[in-house]
Amino acid sequence: MTVIRGATTIMKDCAEEIRAAVAELLEQIESRNALKRDEVLSIVFSSTSDIHSFYPAKAAREAGFASCSLFSAQEPEIEGGLALCIRVMLFVEKNITPHHVYLRGARVLRRDIAQKYNIAIDGPAGSGKSTVAKLLANDCHILYLDTGAMYRACALAALRKGVDVEDEVQVCDLMRTLELSVGYSDGVQHTYLSKEDVSALLRTPDVSMAASTISRHPSVRMKMVEKQREIASKMSCVLDGRDIGTFVLPDADFKFFLTASPEVRAKRRYDEMVARGKKVDFEALKRDIAARDKQDSTRALAPLKQADDAILIDTSEMTVEEVVETIKRKMQEKI
Ligand code: DC
Repeated sequence: MTVIRGATTIMKDCAEEIRAAVAELLEQIESRNALKRDEVLSIVFSSTSDIHSFYPAKAAREAGFASCSLFSAQEPEIEGGLALCIRVMLFVEKNITPHHVYLRGARVLRRDIAQKYNIAIDGPAGSGKSTVAKLLANDCHILYLDTGAMYRACALAALRKGVDVEDEVQVCDLMRTLELSVGYSDGVQHTYLSKEDVSALLRTPDVSMAASTISRHPSVRMKMVEKQREIASKMSCVLDGRDIGTFVLPDADFKFFLTASPEVRAKRRYDEMVARGKKVDFEALKRDIAARDKQDSTRALAPLKQADDAILIDTSEMTVEEVVETIKRKMQEKI
């Protein structure tokens, strides 16, 4: 079984608005999750205390949900909550990855997190930050920005053009003409060089090492940081990297620094690469990670470093889900 969530808002507490908003929400949930009507077992609605004129469950029945069970409840008044909001939970027979749907400005029923906010997650290679950041972003229905992929794309461009990644002058030249952008498809980040999607080419050992080297240069960092700040200023997102909490977004609402023992980090990368069908030498990988750690944390500009106000989480003995839960709990404690 799968549970799909959603929410929408109305402008005025009247039956027509409720009918239209519920029909639209259910239609979007159906199409984004490729659902058939008879796969929906049950729908539960809750509406904010300012909605009285019509039951959302009745609107669903009228919209053609004839056979599933329907239920409507009214929430108590929550200080700072969204006004005129209808939330829904669909219980669906098949097992799918749910696409939750939030329409008309309905995000979360809390003013503190309904407004734009950014989460910074920094840490060394293999600390689990990108896996955690992705899950967290999905959970909070916000964007995930993988800043490492941006530096990796710069490195790939340099390797392709035969640019020496150690050489500031050559790298600076490359940066002048480099057209790098990120886009999202189904919530997954794609990284582009000009119009080419290079996302699948960024995770090789050569690109990893070159990314660490090229990211030392101020010309590269300033260009990447400008893009990252621009994206983060427009929408709520989780950014993971090395310098998010210290340099890119020193005022991020939530900051975390993930770490794990070098042995565990190397083992994670090893397992990841083996799972992708790559042949890897564990000892060589461990050396690469140690070299990257050193290079990333000793560079002059915005090195890998825990921000003073970041919460440190040692993930060595934790599952990804435990880390995500810990982060969410810490966020709750802060707000
Ligand atoms: O997170 P990652 O392993 O994909 O990052 C690859 C390299 O990019 C990393 O070794 C250093 C650099 N990087 C950086 O300097 N600053 C960031 N915010 C992200 C990555």
